Amino acid sequence: MSDVFDQAIDRVLSRKNREVYELLQRSGLYDNVATAIRGRKVRVRGKWLTDFASCNYLGLDLRPEVMEAIGPAVREWGTHPSWARMCCSPELYERLEAELAALLGTEDALVLPTISLIGIGLIPALTGKGAAIFADKVVHKVNHDGCRLARDMGATLTSFRHEDLSTLEAGLAAHAGATVRLVVVDGVLSTTGRLPELGRILEIARAHDAIVYVDDAHGFGVLGESPSPEHPYGRKGNGVIRHLGLTYDNVLYVSGLSKAYSSLAAFIGCPRKLKPFLKCNVTSYLVCRGLCPRPRWPRRWPGWSSTPARATRGAAPSTSTRAPSSTPTASGAFPRTTTRRSPSSAPTWGARRTWSAAGSCSSRRAST
Ligand SMILES: Cc1ncc(COP(=O)(O)O)c(C=O)c1O
Repeated sequence: MSDVFDQAIDRVLSRKNREVYELLQRSGLYDNVATAIRGRKVRVRGKWLTDFASCNYLGLDLRPEVMEAIGPAVREWGTHPSWARMCCSPELYERLEAELAALLGTEDALVLPTISLIGIGLIPALTGKGAAIFADKVVHKVNHDGCRLARDMGATLTSFRHEDLSTLEAGLAAHAGATVRLVVVDGVLSTTGRLPELGRILEIARAHDAIVYVDDAHGFGVLGESPSPEHPYGRKGNGVIRHLGLTYDNVLYVSGLSKAYSSLAAFIGCPRKLKPFLKCNVTSYLVCRGLCPRPRWPRRWPGWSSTPARATRGAAPSTSTRAPSSTPTASGAFPRTTTRRSPSSAPTWGARRTWSAAGSCSSRRAST
C-alpha cells in the first residue's frame, strides 16, 4: 500500500514549489525554534542571533508596562472569549473598534482576529458571482487567496501592475457592467517598503465606481497624517491613507495590530452602513472565535516622556529613512518616546534602543 501523504506531497507540489520546499528542508533557515529571548536577541539552536525578522516596528512587545496592562483584562474577562463574534463579544472589542475608527478617521471599524482572516473572508463576501476583481500583482498572498476564493464563487479576477495603471483603467472600463468592481492593493508593500501610487489608484477606481481594498499591514502604526520634513513618517501612525492626505471615499482600509502593535487583532475601517452587512456575510466574523482580551490602553504609558520626540534615523518599512516622531496607542493618544530597532545602528547585546525626546538614540539594558 502506498503512503497517501507521500503521494499527496509528490503530486501536489508544482516544480517551482518543489524547489522551494527542498531548499527549505536543506537550508536550516526556516522553522527556527527560539528557546530564549533577550531584548532583540533570540537563542536558536544554542546561538544568540539578532532578530531582524519580526515586524514589531515600534518595539512594544517587550515593554513591561504593555505586558502588565494585559493582566487586569484577562482577570476580568478570562483568557479567551469562546464565542464567535457573531454570537457575542466582550465590550472591549466595541471600544477597540470605536478607538480605531477615531484614530483612522473612518466612520466605523470592524475587528477580526487577523488580516489573513479578513482577506479570505471579506473579499469573497463583497464580490462573488458577476463581480470583477482587479488585484495588484504584488498583493500579499492572503489577499490573492481571498481573490481566488471569490473567483471560485463566480467573480472574474484580473491582475494589474501598480507601475502600469493603464491595465487597471482598461479593465475597469471593460467590466462596467459587473455587479461590484473591487480593486485590491497593499498600502506599504511588505517586501520593498514602498508605496503604490494610491492617490492615482483611488482616482481611477472612483471614476469607475469601484471599491478599493487597501491592506496596510505595514503602514499602520508607522505612517501617519501630516508628514513634514521634520516628521517624514507623519504623526499618529494612522496609516497610509491619512499619510498621503487621501480620503476614505470608496475605500476599505484593512490593517492589524500584529505588526507595529505587537499584538493579535485586525480590523476593517469602513463606512458605518457597511458594518451590519459585513457582520452577516464575512465568514471569519460569523464563525471564528474572538481575540484574547486586551486592555483599554491608557492615555499615556508610565515612563513615556512628555516632551515631543524628534524624528531620528530608523528602519521601519517606509519610503522614508526616518523614524516616526510619535507612536499612537489604540486610543489615539501619542506617547512621546518609543523604543524601536534600527538595523543601521543595531542595539548592543541585551540592550534596547530608545528614541529619546531629544531625538538622540540611547541604549538601556532590556528589562526582560
Ligand atoms: C501585507 C500583509 N497582509 C497581511 C498579512 C497577514 O497578517 P496577519 O498576521 O494579521 O494575518 C501580512 C503578514 O505578513 C502582510 O504582510
